[in-house]
Amino acid sequence: MGNKLNISTRITLADGNSMPLFGLGVWAASPGKETYDATLYALKTGYRHIDTAEMYGNEKDVGNAIADSGIGRDEIFVTTKLWNSCLGHNHALESFDLSLKKMNLEYIDLYLIHWPEGESQIETWKALEIIKKRGKCKSIGVSNFAPKHLKEILYKASEKPVVNQIEISPFLQQKTISSFCRKEKIHLTGYCPLARGERLDNPILIQIARETNKNPAQIMIRWAIQNGNTVIPKSSRFKRIEENSNIFNFSLNKEQMKVLNALEEGLRFCPDPLKI
Ligand SMILES: NC(=O)c1ccc[n+]([C@@H]2O[C@H](COP(=O)([O-])OP(=O)(O)OC[C@H]3O[C@@H](n4cnc5c(N)ncnc54)[C@H](OP(=O)(O)O)[C@@H]3O)[C@@H](O)[C@H]2O)c1
Repeated sequence: MGNKLNISTRITLADGNSMPLFGLGVWAASPGKETYDATLYALKTGYRHIDTAEMYGNEKDVGNAIADSGIGRDEIFVTTKLWNSCLGHNHALESFDLSLKKMNLEYIDLYLIHWPEGESQIETWKALEIIKKRGKCKSIGVSNFAPKHLKEILYKASEKPVVNQIEISPFLQQKTISSFCRKEKIHLTGYCPLARGERLDNPILIQIARETNKNPAQIMIRWAIQNGNTVIPKSSRFKRIEENSNIFNFSLNKEQMKVLNALEEGLRFCPDPLKI
């Protein structure tokens, strides 16, 4: 991938819809002013993809910021997720309607099952298929699914998930899940792309940042994009929101990618899907 990418570049998903490769995550942004301001600032900066979830408690603020941004709805890609306490067919339908209402939107771009809780996901997934058929959601997918969870859906459902959102950074590359998803044409979104700020002092990151005149966070985000994944770094600080998006005017060379690929150390902030 060259320098032709920009902040709103979209990738075509297996269902024919498209999704911006870059977006803002809002987990742990407090409901109210913090989420509203961060989302609005990101949209003004050029972000066209916001990743929220029912569990974050801030869908309403994301919706308000979208409405106040003045940007056309079709230019903005919104992801939200179904929480673990609302799994099952009817619960999922109800929870989706609530999310839509809270966000005051006519549709969601991507709706995900947040975690594969329990023995089977198929009844929940069928609800997502209905939501998509009703046109209330353009694409449906999953999050934190390992191959065994995905296989159940691939074998039993009529629609396949087009996205799997999992934790990915140079320090946790999730090769087993990634290669399965690539084979099945399930696009990956990587969360915790900055390893929550815990490795920004890594000497290799610092060295590559020096070579490219960027900072370590920008190197981690660019690494994700050059791997072909969608990436959703979170920040509530305006300066960082801007900085994190300033990654489209340079690229990492093959050697730098190779060195970053060697940083794997199993550093994980969320549960391992392979163990669920
Ligand atoms: N599907 C799932 O189960 C799941 C799980 C976790 C996360 N997610 C999604 O993925 C998004 C990103 O993951 P994350 O928020 O957990 O972690 P992250 O993006 O790796 O890191 C966010 C942390 O890094 C800080 N930060 C941001 N930019 C920085 C910079 N340029 N320099 C230094 N520090 C910086 C932020 O603080 P400030 O805000 O103070 O800048 C925040 O504390 C979430 O917001 C959420 O939307 C999904």
